[in-house]
Amino acid sequence: MEQALKTLKNWIDSSNNIVFFGGAGVSTESGIPDFRSVDGLYHQKYKFPPETILSNTFFRRNPEEFYIFYRDKLIAPNARPNAAHLKLAQWEQEGKLKAVITQNIDGLHQMAGSRKVLELHGSVHRCYCERCRKIYLESFVNEGTGVPRCSCGGIVRPDVVLYEEGLDNHIMSESMSLIRDAEILIIGGTSLNVYPAAGLINYYRGNKLVLINLSETPADSQADLVIHGKIGEVFSQL
Ligand code: OAD
Repeated sequence: MEQALKTLKNWIDSSNNIVFFGGAGVSTESGIPDFRSVDGLYHQKYKFPPETILSNTFFRRNPEEFYIFYRDKLIAPNARPNAAHLKLAQWEQEGKLKAVITQNIDGLHQMAGSRKVLELHGSVHRCYCERCRKIYLESFVNEGTGVPRCSCGGIVRPDVVLYEEGLDNHIMSESMSLIRDAEILIIGGTSLNVYPAAGLINYYRGNKLVLINLSETPADSQADLVIHGKIGEVFSQL
């Protein structure tokens, strides 16, 4: 670990083309549970499995249940950025980091000061009417009760990508090209289980692929450097 940290620090100190790609594990140290760890959302007991609740079909058929789960589990108004979010924002300010590409919907990278954040799965901080596309404040959805309705009668929903829904093409293609051109790609806090996001790793062509994750991932053998640990703790040593 010591040696891996030293190597990573050397790489980072001498680069101005780092791209970070992360997932739910980046925010667990801010108090937001991830999905697939033993204490993650997918291992808790609900009336329906979270993968089902977070699908477009379920949203359409059972919006009341969807919003109960959503407000209870996906909104974290008191969460604050941790050392990983803050370090990434610092690297961007120093001209070292080109972008953060995230699967998270919590907005903590922006709260930490990051400007270039590509949100593959959207954000709980943007809401709109499905029918007329009118934009709503997040408080209208996140702090209300029941199913939030627009004056036109449509359902107001968060701008998050549910299962069965497509990812934004522009965000995907920009992510691909940033990763393709990156000197260092740091992947952190993601199980690399959910596609198409997890497939982005295949666009990297360099020789400094870094994986920082608590548990093993399917890409460990592909990486040039693997650190198993808490990402906030690791980043605070860089
Ligand atoms: P997962 O819950 O699948 O994976 C999180 C990973 O982070 C796990 O491998 C953990 O071991 C690791 N981890 C947890 N805490 C950590 C820490 N402090 N430091 C380092 N690693 C840590 O979450 P994602 O890979 O982000 O999609 O999941 C991808 C998508 O699945 C989510 O965006 C969400 C979900 O369904 C949608 O809702 C569309």
